[in-house]
Amino acid sequence: MKLLSKSDIISGQSVNTIIDALEKRRVVKTPAQVTNILPPTAAFYDKWRAKSLGLLTGEAFSLEDEAQLLIDWLKPKVKEVILDLGCSTAFYARTIAKEQPASFPVAIDYSKAMLNKAIKLTKSQNRELYFLKADAEGLPIKDETINAAVSGGTLNEFHNPRKALSEAYRVLKKDGRLFLMYLTKSETFSGKLAQLGAKGGGITFHSRDGWNTILQNVGFEELKRKDMGVVTFQLLQK
Ligand SMILES: C[S@@+](CC[C@H](N)C(=O)[O-])C[C@H]1O[C@@H](n2cnc3c(N)ncnc32)[C@H](O)[C@@H]1O
Repeated sequence: MKLLSKSDIISGQSVNTIIDALEKRRVVKTPAQVTNILPPTAAFYDKWRAKSLGLLTGEAFSLEDEAQLLIDWLKPKVKEVILDLGCSTAFYARTIAKEQPASFPVAIDYSKAMLNKAIKLTKSQNRELYFLKADAEGLPIKDETINAAVSGGTLNEFHNPRKALSEAYRVLKKDGRLFLMYLTKSETFSGKLAQLGAKGGGITFHSRDGWNTILQNVGFEELKRKDMGVVTFQLLQK
């Protein structure tokens, strides 16, 4: 696999178009991942996303609250290259571009349907992003190229979350930041039941300690965290 440098990804020609760096081998391994490549999922995804955290936490936590937390913690800076890993419609990358138009957010997903929807939304908001069709569990990016990475809800959907985190660690520069939102194992009866069904679709849930152990073993150090029921936000550093 050819590993891309910053200038391979960030160029005048590549603004708001897809760089296809997905190897021909099969990356879609779970039922949840199959769902994500279908155009109807991309079409309806935003409606679910807008309500998802309120429903999952049982608390009043809007998309605007989440965007504010992302910006307050990540503090995107001028010229920083920031990956949105498993971006779907690129909510995090678009939020970063709005806050810091002089940064270089790169939205990554293997689903062309999701990336096309993300590009449509990005253009309609007059923003500029870079889009990479790639496997986050085998990033086609050179070591220590990236300033920060973010991932909203995708850690649970990776076939191998530890591999995706190791890849993020590899491409981050020293002191690079990682902002994560993910789900932990539920302790309630109804939550356990719902997660049992999701597990069948290939979604992974660990306890808070379980995720922490994985993150520490990969090499990340926690800077900030916020737990809201089964939803955890974390800011970590390489
Ligand atoms: C839960 S959604 C992500 C939501 C999005 N980050 C947000 O904040 O709205 C999961 C996305 O990750 C993508 N995905 C899952 N595994 C992936 C992988 N190994 N490489 C790239 N994208 C992946 C799926 O195609 C899907 O669009």
